[in-house]
Amino acid sequence: MTSTLLTGIGELVTNDERFGGPLGLVQDAAVVVEDGRVAWVGPRRGAPTADARRDLGGRAVVPGFVDSHAHLVFAGDRAAEFEARMAGTPYDGGGIASTVAATRAATEEELRGTLRRLVAEMRAQGTTTVEVKGGYGLTVEDEARSVRLAREVTEEVTFLGAHVVPSEYAGRADDYVALVAGPMLTACAPRARWVDVFCEPGSAHAFDGDQAQVVLEAGAAAGLGLRLHANQLSAGPGVRLAVELGAASADHCTHLTDADVEALAGSSTVATLLPTIEFSTRSPYPDARRLIDAGATVALATDCNPGSGYSSSMPLAVALAVREMRMTPAEALWSATAGGAAALRRTDVGVLRPGARADLAVLDAPSYLHLAYRPGVPLVRALELDA
Ligand code: NIG
Ligand code: FE
Repeated sequence: MTSTLLTGIGELVTNDERFGGPLGLVQDAAVVVEDGRVAWVGPRRGAPTADARRDLGGRAVVPGFVDSHAHLVFAGDRAAEFEARMAGTPYDGGGIASTVAATRAATEEELRGTLRRLVAEMRAQGTTTVEVKGGYGLTVEDEARSVRLAREVTEEVTFLGAHVVPSEYAGRADDYVALVAGPMLTACAPRARWVDVFCEPGSAHAFDGDQAQVVLEAGAAAGLGLRLHANQLSAGPGVRLAVELGAASADHCTHLTDADVEALAGSSTVATLLPTIEFSTRSPYPDARRLIDAGATVALATDCNPGSGYSSSMPLAVALAVREMRMTPAEALWSATAGGAAALRRTDVGVLRPGARADLAVLDAPSYLHLAYRPGVPLVRALELDA
């Protein structure tokens, strides 16, 4: 077992309130890493010795981003749909069908290739934990294949059989819900940790509150944790359902009533905001300030997918949250790290304290402020400890 002392950290974000909240900042810091875990954190002058030593040249270090919402098992391309949206066509989820067709037709090797490329793309931008959803197979075999592939790259695998009603079930949504909550769930649950539903009565393709409840309750009975695509296109029943069922996270939250905000604030359900989706669908951004001031826990994630927003960039999500959603730079970074961990009910990531995973991201900049101050600049990457 080898330990490494990292020094020359100009500014360290720990998210550990023992160093002062909310980011637990330490200037001129050091970290000792041992066996993939953080062994020690603090000011450089108090650092213990270690087997090896590495100097980071005054750079800022932050916990690796925790991207708690991504759809990475897919084939095909919907750039033309993006082009049409930029010319005024609204997003309604209808394009998901074309990704389903391409995904069903793809080989396992093709899907694995895209999945691994995107996970590497995320890591190169500082993401060290990613949740991966299925949802582009929509048959028992195709969803089972999707969760099996997702499980190759992450423990945070989500069964999303209830993404949209596939064309072969057109006009028979309840029959499809029975398939999802029955045999499809049985086939997928062993490799999944979470179940999710696109709950959106505002879309002709997605599921209403009652249908979402059937799938979520079946998922809970199968031992899965709950998350929900909620209130993306309209102020529908999703957020309230997520809170009532004790979901770990309600994602999107683009259109919220005061009652939704209050419900989130009074619960342990995290409001996960996805600003790259508002960017890529030309939607108004949700007001994160309203949620934070009410007392809700807010996470930021990419929702990387080929349709509503094909960005794998947590730094972009941070910059948009600061510029468009009234978050401070500190709040946005917290939400992209510790907030994402809360949305996944994890305590070993999103924070740098002894015992946590040694998931560090390093910035070619002196301060985390540069994440939003220098938007679009590739400043941050996951630190490869054995490199
Ligand atoms: O989170 N809204 C539903 N699902 C995805 C989009 C999937 C797609 O358009 O392919 C989302 O935005
Ligand atoms: Fe999504």
